[in-house]
Amino acid sequence: MSETTQSTAVQGEASGPDGELPVPAPGGRFSSRPIRSFVLRQGRMSPAQQRHLDTMMPKIGLPYRPAVIDPEAIFGRRAPCVLEIGFGMGDTTFAIAQARPDTDFIAIEVHGPGVGNLCKLVAGSGLTNLRIVQHDAVEVLRDMIAPASLAGVHVYFPDPWHKKRHHKRRIIQPGFVALVAERLAPGGYLHCATDWQEYADWMLAVLSAEPSLRNTAEGWAPRPDWRPLTKFENRGLRLGHGVRDLLFRKRESGDRA
Ligand SMILES: C[S@@+](CC[C@H](N)C(=O)[O-])C[C@H]1O[C@@H](n2cnc3c(N)ncnc32)[C@H](O)[C@@H]1O
Repeated sequence: MSETTQSTAVQGEASGPDGELPVPAPGGRFSSRPIRSFVLRQGRMSPAQQRHLDTMMPKIGLPYRPAVIDPEAIFGRRAPCVLEIGFGMGDTTFAIAQARPDTDFIAIEVHGPGVGNLCKLVAGSGLTNLRIVQHDAVEVLRDMIAPASLAGVHVYFPDPWHKKRHHKRRIIQPGFVALVAERLAPGGYLHCATDWQEYADWMLAVLSAEPSLRNTAEGWAPRPDWRPLTKFENRGLRLGHGVRDLLFRKRESGDRA
């Protein structure tokens, strides 16, 4: 789903070296990044996806705004809140939200047909613990999510950007991971999965280098119960790729690196 694209940095904010994803700027703010981890393609939206997108997004969509949201007000209850970044067609997102009714999920994707598909899955399901944001997840995390507020963040099969010259477009970068860690509540988790071994090694190095996170496993984690097999994973397995899960937790006070 990926190709090269370039976007401009937000004026007045620092950008990372060599077009990296967000880095903490002086004063604790996070910069915008000049390079995005996705390419927006039109994609083919089926009539059903379009119909459900039109009818469901006013109900379960959260419009992007540069203002911090209050999940308690949005979901009408106090519950752990988990963010999913880049949900693709949303099948995993839907399955997880159904299997974990006591947790609220904010699922983020830029790809219209995927958003339409998740809307279609939710329509008529009675699911109440899921909201969708159709926007760049890095900006959503930076602008809409309060510090130390999330119970978890899911990043499943992010685009691996295979070519070396595109590695800077990978969403898992030190600045992005620092931003995720800052938004996690103490004890909250970051769960990543990939079927691309070289990206898995990259993720392990980047996550391990973030001092406020600790690995819950020695290297790779077993696939947690809550993550069902995804379309990408099944394809990866068919191609003979191993799948790696990484499960890190935000350190709590007294839990030092
Ligand atoms: C390879 S797909 C994996 C989809 C899904 N997680 C799965 O396992 O099937 C990666 C997805 O991440 C989305 N994506 C990449 N960068 C994103 C960003 N910054 N914000 C929102 N979505 C993003 C892409 O549009 C794409 O749908």
